[in-house]
Amino acid sequence: MVWNRNPEPFSELISADAVAKRVAELGAQITAEYRDAVGDVVVLGVLKGSVIFMADLVRQIGLPVYLDFIGISSYGDATVSSGVVQITQDLSRPIQDKHVIVVEDIVDTGHTVHYLMENLKTRGPASVKLCALLHKPERAERDIHIDYLGFTIPNKFVVGYGLDVAQQYRNLAFIGFVP
Ligand code: IMP
Ligand code: MG
Repeated sequence: MVWNRNPEPFSELISADAVAKRVAELGAQITAEYRDAVGDVVVLGVLKGSVIFMADLVRQIGLPVYLDFIGISSYGDATVSSGVVQITQDLSRPIQDKHVIVVEDIVDTGHTVHYLMENLKTRGPASVKLCALLHKPERAERDIHIDYLGFTIPNKFVVGYGLDVAQQYRNLAFIGFVP
């Protein structure tokens, strides 16, 4: 078996096929809802965890979109959110009057996304919506509205499909958890 499709030493939570199916559904939903905004849609990936998800998602969106990235640090290499959020790399272009779709890997405590959404709203966008692959509601410390959600998951530390353990294993094809 190809290394990045073998669940060991993790346990598989969501298979690569199930992820692909859900990403296609999210792409179709976004395509339908942004038809009238063509020319002004910015898909904004939060580095680095969203990169794999974003690459697949934008290829399921049947409209031309701009891509941009923002670097956010809330954890260091720890596995528990400190609640202190920093922008480590800013957008390459202004988002004034743009329709922004923020793409995140996971909403855990919600501190990162809360900070980011508030920050982006001060920049005069036409709209800002949130697309998150995963949501761990049991860990919520902030009330976050997720406009496009892949999967709700239990309170486990997950890895793969962009998510890391100490910066590794982002290239697993499936989503696993540390047993
Ligand atoms: P929050 O601020 O607690 O919502 O944390 C969000 C960020 O922490 C995410 O963007 C991830 O980068 C990281 N994170 C949270 N939970 C996990 C997990 O289970 N596995 C890997 N990274 C996680
Ligand atoms: Mg992240």
